[in-house]
Amino acid sequence: MSAPFRIAVLASGTGTNLQALIDAISAGDLAVEIAGVFSDKAKAFALERARGAGIATTVVPPKRFATREAHDEAFFAAVDGASADLIVCAGYMRIITAAQIERRPNRMINLHPSLLPAFKGLHTHQQALDAGAIEHGASVHIVTADLDDGPVLAQARVPVLPGDTAGTLAARVQAVEHPLLVETVRMLAEGHLRLAPDGPHLNGAPLPAPLQLGANRRLA
Ligand code: GRF
Repeated sequence: MSAPFRIAVLASGTGTNLQALIDAISAGDLAVEIAGVFSDKAKAFALERARGAGIATTVVPPKRFATREAHDEAFFAAVDGASADLIVCAGYMRIITAAQIERRPNRMINLHPSLLPAFKGLHTHQQALDAGAIEHGASVHIVTADLDDGPVLAQARVPVLPGDTAGTLAARVQAVEHPLLVETVRMLAEGHLRLAPDGPHLNGAPLPAPLQLGANRRLA
């Protein structure tokens, strides 16, 4: 048997996406090993979820460092200790310095709550409402030095409904984010998706457009 595909998960918040990965692994739907969960926030509930699943956790709080660069240096030194094949940012809320990203080309993915390239940055659900969008969703993209700008691997779409608030829209997006992240990680782990130097590949050919999450909760 080949060695399991190892992922390191970076999270700052409640960790529902981490939980989705943990649950898919326990259900036998995702053949990966979570080699560690890394956070900038000691109180992140994601850490509780990791401990509950017997996953090693590491917290590197920014306050202990004089600069953003110094924090990232220590944080990513810890991440490297997990020897992960893939680094998954699942609600990691810090902007990562370009130097760290450039040292790990095509090894980091991020889950962003919008249909990129629309609505980068924060408060994406409110941004979608303010723009009068009729459709919204979530994207998994390769992390590059430009914020929320790397090649998009996969997306999940939801309608914006009359009377939506940022809260109701966020809940609808979260329900599809979980299978979106699990399926994208699964396709990377199984080698269907590959992050090559000349761009993402699907089954050996350049990925023509982001994969879309279907009603069957699979990517196509
Ligand atoms: C998600 O909405 C994700 O898209 C964004 O941060 C949130 C994390 O949620 N990047 P959780 O911590 O996984 O519950």
